[in-house]
Amino acid sequence: MYHKPTRRSVIAQLGAITSLLSVGTGHSAFAGSTGREVDMLVSRIDELSGSLRGEVLTLEEWRSGIYELLSQVSEHDIMRAIDFDRLASRIGFAELGVSTTKISFGSDERRTLSFLPKLFAVDTGRSIIPHGHSNMVSAHLPLAGAFRLRQYDQVSRGEHALTIRPTVDKLIGAGDLSSIGEDDDNVHWFIAEEPSYTFDVIVTGLDDEAEHQYEIFNLDMEAAETKPNGLLSVPRLSVSEALNKYG
Ligand SMILES: [Fe+2]
Repeated sequence: MYHKPTRRSVIAQLGAITSLLSVGTGHSAFAGSTGREVDMLVSRIDELSGSLRGEVLTLEEWRSGIYELLSQVSEHDIMRAIDFDRLASRIGFAELGVSTTKISFGSDERRTLSFLPKLFAVDTGRSIIPHGHSNMVSAHLPLAGAFRLRQYDQVSRGEHALTIRPTVDKLIGAGDLSSIGEDDDNVHWFIAEEPSYTFDVIVTGLDDEAEHQYEIFNLDMEAAETKPNGLLSVPRLSVSEALNKYG
């Protein structure tokens, strides 16, 4: 059962997080062998994500913490640490949408992490279909390849449609991290320009009293209706409809 942290423990943990994130000397906080660097990275993402789930950190603090942490390790180091070549050849590419697998880190194989680390593989022209989220947050680091990334704030959600506001439309490549917030940038859509891979950090169950551990809302962007205020009203789609149209 979850117990809300006391004020004292909140302050103590925030202090610990702040020191974890400090890089004031300009040297990497992850000096040493690649495996150890990535082990430390995993521990710190775990701590950060546990603090988010425990309501010690806000989503904005989690997002900026993830940026701080992932900026200190190269995508090549992550690829070596996760045995990328073996994983990539095992999952291949999907004919529609993505192939994906959970990542196990050597020393953390038997440990329950506060986040789900995953590898996504997206072939040229295929996409991580446009979708919004509820009760989860995620960050996405391209390891190889290139995407057109579009993101939108989730302004409101109805049974049949989401109202969203465009925030991001750009080409990204290896190392260009993106993330979603609870509402800010909550909808994302990645179209692969070439065979591409992302390392994902996913945290679900942010509200442990919510009906669902997390929810995904697939969107029919071609059917979006632009309102006079610039917002888009976008119909929702089932997974199969969305994969057939956008995958
Ligand atoms: Fe997503």
